[in-house]
Amino acid sequence: MGMIGRAVRVRVPASSANLGPGFDSFGLALAVYDEIEVTAVDGPCRVEVEGVGAGEVATDETNLVVRAAAHAFQAVGVPMPGLAIKARNVIPHGGGLGSSAAAIVSGLVAAKGLLAPEVELPAQRLLELATELEGHPDNVAAALLGGLTIAWTVDGVPRAKQLIVHRGVSPLVCTPDFSVSTEHARSLQPASVPYEDAVFNLSRSALLVAALVQSPELLFEATEDRLHQDYRAEAMPATYELVQRLRAAGHAAVVSGAGPSILVLASDPAARAEAAAIIAASGGAAWETRLLAVDVRGATVIPLPVSAA
Ligand code: HSE
Repeated sequence: MGMIGRAVRVRVPASSANLGPGFDSFGLALAVYDEIEVTAVDGPCRVEVEGVGAGEVATDETNLVVRAAAHAFQAVGVPMPGLAIKARNVIPHGGGLGSSAAAIVSGLVAAKGLLAPEVELPAQRLLELATELEGHPDNVAAALLGGLTIAWTVDGVPRAKQLIVHRGVSPLVCTPDFSVSTEHARSLQPASVPYEDAVFNLSRSALLVAALVQSPELLFEATEDRLHQDYRAEAMPATYELVQRLRAAGHAAVVSGAGPSILVLASDPAARAEAAAIIAASGGAAWETRLLAVDVRGATVIPLPVSAA
């Protein structure tokens, strides 16, 4: 197929994983987006980055967006052309807001757009390819599908269900001026947990679905967790302390993904403003606070006019 000159624009939301009790299972897409424009070129891959990661991330074929695109082309058995990528990034790196999932999904969805209409890459295949690169499906499911996602695996194959979040749910995200590697956070968790802790998280996870979809007033109890946040506290003491402070004031605060950002799932805008005031008054790390909507569309790709590139 003649692919040189084809171009697409891709937009992928940030995402928050775990949401308290749903370790490696829940994801929530947030309305803040990384965007890329990708043109198929007759030459080597090159990436221009604006915003987060500019001057830091790789700009050649080792860039994560390019590697994800290459993974998709390889999966469908089509040779990948050179890719000229312009990226505008706003999702912080190492912040617990799904920046690597967004990069992976961006590359895969760009490949889908460039391969269409001759080759199809359905959402389930994209989820599988994204999970192969990310290692776990929670962030990539939310980044791909939008809304609230529940991810699970069947014989190692990831699956995901998207749900629409109750419109009363008002997310607030705050991000400190330090980062935590997911690998390090995961290394702090034990190989097994007490049975009662597993049951505790089971009840809260089930309740969280009801709270997010139907009954936001249950969010505080529904976001309790015993499987990961306490174990990971030493990697992010300022985050842990602020989550405790927000929860002591009655807010449904959790560590976002592997941290160190914090997600507060307020049940109305007034409660969200109160939580923001607590964060603003807290000392220690410098917190960047964002009042965000839930993204409902997930990753989008639109074709751009074919260029002579
Ligand atoms: N569920 C993952 C974790 C999300 O908490 O380790 C981070 O990528």
